Amino acid sequence: MATYNLKINGKVRQVNVDPATPLLWVLRDHLNMTGTKYGCGIAQCGACTVHLEGNAIRSCQLPVSVVGKQAVTTIEGLSEKGDHPVQKAWLEHDVAQCGYCQAGQIMQAASLLKNNPKPTDEEIEAQMSGNICRCGTYLRIKEAVKSAAKK
Ligand code: FES
Ligand code: FES
Repeated sequence: MATYNLKINGKVRQVNVDPATPLLWVLRDHLNMTGTKYGCGIAQCGACTVHLEGNAIRSCQLPVSVVGKQAVTTIEGLSEKGDHPVQKAWLEHDVAQCGYCQAGQIMQAASLLKNNPKPTDEEIEAQMSGNICRCGTYLRIKEAVKSAAKK
């Protein structure tokens, strides 16, 4: 066990966990932040996507010991009132179906637009292709990303 002071959503959160614990389980089991979802556990589905220093990463494969002082942002901290342009566009386009993959989709899209505010269709497809949705909401996701890019 080791103690870590993690910077999550602008606050320092202390946890005492095994260094190999994936960040996903620190968030969900130790900090009760359950917005970030578990899908595959092997960095293949994107359900567990959070931001590390603003960039999308798969938290299921990131040991807590390598987070260090880097800022972590989860879906709970993306915006204060759920009003990030991506979240607004998601509502406008009624993207979610069962919802399970959507926190990861939104975090991936927010990171994509931060790094590339005016993406082409191809760039959206390439950047979002690692986020799987078993409900098949891909067309609405693409339209919502395009609409968020215009805001
Ligand atoms: S749970 Fe992390 S990528 Fe699937
Ligand atoms: S909305 Fe159901 S898995 Fe994506």
